Amino acid sequence: MTLEDRKRPSILIVDDVPSNIELLGEVLLSQYDVRVVTSGLEALEIVGSNKPPDLVLLDIMMPNMDGYEVCRQIKKLDKCKAIPVIFITAAAETEDETKGFALGAVDYITKPFCLSVVKERVRTHLELKRHRDHLEEIVAARTLEIRNAYESLQTLNQELKDSLIQLRHAQEHLIQSEKMAALGGLVAGVAHEISTPVGIGFTAASFLALKTKQYSELKRSNGLTSEDIEKYMQIANEAAEIIHTNLSRAGELITSFKQVGTDQANEESRRFNFKQYLQTILFSLQPKLKPGKHKINIDCPESIVISSYPGVFSQIITNLVVNSVTHGFEGISAGEIDLRVSLENGQLKLCYQDNGKGMKAEHLSKIFDPFFTTKRNDGGTGLGMHITYNLVTQVLKGRIQCERGADKGFACTITVPILLPGL
Ligand SMILES: Nc1ncnc2c1ncn2[C@@H]1O[C@H](COP(=O)(O)OP(=O)(O)OP(=O)(O)O)[C@@H](O)[C@H]1O
Ligand SMILES: [Mg+2]
Repeated sequence: MTLEDRKRPSILIVDDVPSNIELLGEVLLSQYDVRVVTSGLEALEIVGSNKPPDLVLLDIMMPNMDGYEVCRQIKKLDKCKAIPVIFITAAAETEDETKGFALGAVDYITKPFCLSVVKERVRTHLELKRHRDHLEEIVAARTLEIRNAYESLQTLNQELKDSLIQLRHAQEHLIQSEKMAALGGLVAGVAHEISTPVGIGFTAASFLALKTKQYSELKRSNGLTSEDIEKYMQIANEAAEIIHTNLSRAGELITSFKQVGTDQANEESRRFNFKQYLQTILFSLQPKLKPGKHKINIDCPESIVISSYPGVFSQIITNLVVNSVTHGFEGISAGEIDLRVSLENGQLKLCYQDNGKGMKAEHLSKIFDPFFTTKRNDGGTGLGMHITYNLVTQVLKGRIQCERGADKGFACTITVPILLPGL
């Protein structure tokens, strides 16, 4: 694109003797809009107006206000200091020229001048100004884009922060509702479980009270035979037996429920050698393995020493082994349990696996639910694995995952820190 293609640039010529530059004006007029003024004050008025020129050709020696002063004033004003000023003057001394450049002029042409050279210089400076303006526009546009992008980023950041806060609230709420739901389930379960033995005990006690009343009346009317006494004794014994069994069952249940609260970890924590402690636990479990010829294989490095709650490990492993024996090895006389212990990323990893019957997938997903048992009428309360889960996650601050065994049977992986926080 050439200058001719665009809007015609405008030039302001400032000279107190217009005849001096009449010829120049005429030459420039063919390509530019030319305005001519004869004083500095008029020049400043036009430069500061809404339609400032694109270039100023400025004479130096003028009455009242000379060209240097006009140039100084132009460069002082923010909105017009970018307008190129070319001095056209008879003052040809080097210091005059230096002064002109020092005041911000872009060029200095001495009279008498060659018209075509002036025309060329004007063209060059206008072209330069156009490029500069264009660059400034680009910079301004980029700055605006960056500012907008920064503002949207800030808005986005704020939105993210807000969402995070909302998410945390929602999470806390969820955890809380989950806890309440678990607690509700637990309370309902406790009530349900205990109501059976207590109900049976109550019926037996009422029956005994009724019979006692009947036999007392017989005695009072002297109608009590030795056969009646015998029968009463039998009834009383049976009722006492029923009451005793059921109250014991209720007592056992209450003990298990108490364990559901994991604060039984009141037990002292200490540093202990894991393999040695594991062997002690397994030794104490021998009677439970006795009915069959079940075997436990341990694979544990001698050197592992951890700081934790030994009693809690004992409880967890006992629960797992008892489960393998009662559920997994039901009808199996020689089951095997593998216990592999290792250290991984500063954590103790315990892999437990039996080769028993294993579990159905739909049962496996409920294994940690309180009161989930497949032996409801056979002494199971369904609290063993629930307690185990709480012990691992809350007391030992670890993780537990149960799955089907590699070939068959039941497998479970427990990962816990070797040094509990706060110990
Ligand atoms: N090793 C295992 N092999 C097969 N099934 C298992 C095994 N361990 C647990 N289960 C299944 O998971 C259920 C829940 O186990 P959990 O220990 O919580 O309860 P429980 O043993 O039935 O009763 P509790 O332990 O309270 O006396 C069991 O009833 C059983 O169906
Ligand atoms: Mg159990």
